[in-house]
Amino acid sequence: MVFNKLFKEDNRNALVVLSLFVFVLSIYLMPIWPSLDLFYHNEDIDRDTAQIIESRGFKAENHRITTGDGYILTVTRIINPHVTDRSKLRPILLQHGYQCNANLWIINSMGELTDDGKWVEDNNDGPAQIIESRGFKAENHRITTGDGYILTVTRIINPHVTDRSKLRPILLQHGYQCNANLWIINSMGELTDDGKWVEDNNDGPVGNTLGFVLAVNGYDVWLANMRGNMYSLHHTRYRSYDPIFWRFSIDEMIDYDLPAMISYIQKETQKEQLSYIGHSQGTIMMFGLLASQPHYSNIIKPFIAMSPVPFMGNSTSPLVQYGSYILSFLRTTETPFLLLGRAQKHIAHLCDTSYIARVICYRVMYSCLGYQEEQFNFTRTGVYVANLPAGSSSWNAAHLLQMVYSNRPQRYDYGNNETNTMKYQSHEPPVYDMSAINSTNIALIYSANDWLNPVPDVEYLKSHLNVKLLDDYEVPDPTWNHMELLWALETGQFVNPRIPDIFTKKYIDVE
Ligand SMILES: *[C@@H]1O[C@H](CO)[C@@H](O)[C@H](O)[C@H]1NC(C)=O
Ligand SMILES: *[C@@H]1O[C@H](CO)[C@@H](O)[C@H](O)[C@H]1NC(C)=O
Ligand SMILES: *[C@@H]1O[C@H](CO)[C@@H](O)[C@H](O)[C@H]1NC(C)=O
Ligand SMILES: *[C@@H]1O[C@H](CO)[C@@H](O)[C@H](O)[C@H]1NC(C)=O
Repeated sequence: MVFNKLFKEDNRNALVVLSLFVFVLSIYLMPIWPSLDLFYHNEDIDRDTAQIIESRGFKAENHRITTGDGYILTVTRIINPHVTDRSKLRPILLQHGYQCNANLWIINSMGELTDDGKWVEDNNDGPAQIIESRGFKAENHRITTGDGYILTVTRIINPHVTDRSKLRPILLQHGYQCNANLWIINSMGELTDDGKWVEDNNDGPVGNTLGFVLAVNGYDVWLANMRGNMYSLHHTRYRSYDPIFWRFSIDEMIDYDLPAMISYIQKETQKEQLSYIGHSQGTIMMFGLLASQPHYSNIIKPFIAMSPVPFMGNSTSPLVQYGSYILSFLRTTETPFLLLGRAQKHIAHLCDTSYIARVICYRVMYSCLGYQEEQFNFTRTGVYVANLPAGSSSWNAAHLLQMVYSNRPQRYDYGNNETNTMKYQSHEPPVYDMSAINSTNIALIYSANDWLNPVPDVEYLKSHLNVKLLDDYEVPDPTWNHMELLWALETGQFVNPRIPDIFTKKYIDVE
């Protein structure tokens, strides 16, 4: 193993090789540099105080004040246009320090004065722009969990629906390293004037893009973002660059994120029950919740598990083979993992520059998930790369690997007996007991070529469940893999039509 040798003998060797590689790559890519917008241009650099204030939606007034000894000072006043009676305001003078200027107080971050007079700095919209570009409306909700994380959950509003109380609420939960866009980017499409969802080049009975298919078929669709992905990076007390922010595994998503989102949607919709579709880690979350808090089986009707992964012992993904080398590293660091920030959009554009770039990016991105090129729409590569990986904590990665190696859904293993004992009163983390689940509203959808979730693992899960399943559906084409359930040319034929059918089965017990 040349890599082992490099790293063992001297880390510096690896660094030299890596830098040479980056250097050669950047020379090779030189011709396309200018089109990449690689160099940031922050407009605030060129703005003076009044311009900064006005760029945020306020008005500014410059006053020139002459001192007793003749100096003329510039003092800028921030005018909030939402205040009609300025005599009610209390004047306050902000004086900067040595070698500074009045901008000290206003350049800490970008932000905007909203139409209703609030100052908001987080204009990271998540899926809202995609939803609105297709003719729907979008509502962003910020949901605070019991432990202070602020999740962005986006609701798709179908403008053709007048009485929203008739809709059935459904929460869609993406998997590891993904985000809410998972459900809405499979293809382009449009909401027509008569309320239909139409996609180019689709001859399935329904569309390929599940989020919109549900939104035109009587569902009130809520798209979740798990804590720590690119759209859920806020907390009531911590900033996302504090290590303590990243101290979470899948357990916290089960104990805090799901209950917070579920009760928020119940309140907002005035409905007792809601439906849930999870993909990949999104299924572990719901299986974990139903196992640890069985009363949720009265609320979640049905739970549709796409690529159900509580048991991953048979996984053949290369990730699993090499993961053991980094497992203890992931456990001992408290950092974001694969959260690429602004670089991600640049990489996505790079992946979209030519057919060959699309193929390379596809091969790299899917190297851990399994290939099925006939179902992959290469014109979507850049869009997918912009959303996968979407970031999570290093503990989340460690937790998944732990479940693979122990072959059971288990609480997070802190990697040492003392911490485990403190948390769990035992050296071994407790198991999420699948046989304790009493929900009779569970449906499974999976595919045969899924490297992360091979069929023997699904069979193993079924042998643990003590309940009758609503549906147990293996996609008939044996070549489909993990992402194909959402991102394929024929989901409108082989996956999406199955979902409304699950709801109409006569033994389903929903309001
Ligand atoms: C790939 O996606 C694009 C955008 O949705 C669509 O126009 C095109 O028809 C798709 N390709 C195929 C082969 O369906
Ligand atoms: C499952 O168990 C919970 C908690 O004991 C209970 O509230 C619920 O009614 C049970 N559901 C079914 C379908 O048995
Ligand atoms: C899959 O995992 C189960 C449970 O650990 C094991 O019994 C079975 O032999 C495995 N199947 C294959 C094909 O490896
Ligand atoms: C933790 O406890 C187990 C027994 O429960 C023991 O086998 C193992 O060696 C202990 N590990 C450490 C690091 O002390």
